[in-house]
Amino acid sequence: MPLHRLTGITIGVPNVSETADYYTDFGLTPSARSTAASPEAVYALNTGDLQVAFSTVDGGEQLRLVRTPRRRLVELGVGVDDPDDLDRIAASLAHLELTPERDAASLTVVDPGTGIRVTVEIAERIDQAPATVPSYNSPGIVARQNARADGVERDNPVRPRKLGHVVLGSTDQDTSQRFFTEGIGFKISDRVPGHAAFMRCSTDHHNVLVQAAPVSLLHHTSWQVDDVDEVGRGATSMLAEDPTRHVWGLGRHHIGSNFFWYLKDPAGNFSEYYSDIDCIVDDQLWTPQDWHDARALYSWGPPPPPSFLKPDDLAELMTDAHAAG
Ligand SMILES: [Fe+2]
Repeated sequence: MPLHRLTGITIGVPNVSETADYYTDFGLTPSARSTAASPEAVYALNTGDLQVAFSTVDGGEQLRLVRTPRRRLVELGVGVDDPDDLDRIAASLAHLELTPERDAASLTVVDPGTGIRVTVEIAERIDQAPATVPSYNSPGIVARQNARADGVERDNPVRPRKLGHVVLGSTDQDTSQRFFTEGIGFKISDRVPGHAAFMRCSTDHHNVLVQAAPVSLLHHTSWQVDDVDEVGRGATSMLAEDPTRHVWGLGRHHIGSNFFWYLKDPAGNFSEYYSDIDCIVDDQLWTPQDWHDARALYSWGPPPPPSFLKPDDLAELMTDAHAAG
């Protein structure tokens, strides 16, 4: 597969500073803000043009926040290996009558369904140091003897390893799905016919999920942590700071299999800690399935709150989209 990773995202929010504090608490490492002592950065702070960037442990700088009147995903980055990959993608986009902006190391094109700018860029592959696998005791197998569980001994802050996936609402799901698959080169891992496609640009089960929605929106971003204890520890720490951040969790998805816990940033975007997602390392050995029943959403956990399915600010976002023409 010429595509190999998500590189990063730019999220537009009206309240950059507050949202930046949230993602710092979430465990991402601020990078650009460390330059806030420079005259330019102070100027940016004063004029409201604040930009903040954050890194994950393994993925480098993967989140940028910029100021926009309403929350939205501004840009999504996808990594490829070399210029030949960019040539092939430009040719595929031409079949969809889309002409990307091109330079030697990247191309940029807008998804006609969501209006999101997608930049495909030559990037290093992510090489992840293996996590320490905790020993779990189970009936007949005492793998951890005479010791407390690793998960209860940890006291370090949770740090996401990488950006795993982004979920988008599109007013034209078909067009967005075609854009990402036929245009950019994502592969379909599973589908909810007429509603959503789980698409990958790496060996992870999904990196982009586009679902039908009454307005183009960013539903959530998802960040990989080592294991289910980190999912629980991360969310617990976020809620200790502010219990109103809770959205949905702890649970396990059926499609993709990942453990999840969703929280909400101050702009209204959901962010998910996840671990143990399905990985498709041999395309021949994976058969995409169509899902029609409730399992599509989750295998176990509390029922999702209505606001997960229909974000609280949906009507507001629709009004603004309508006003913008
Ligand atoms: Fe997710």
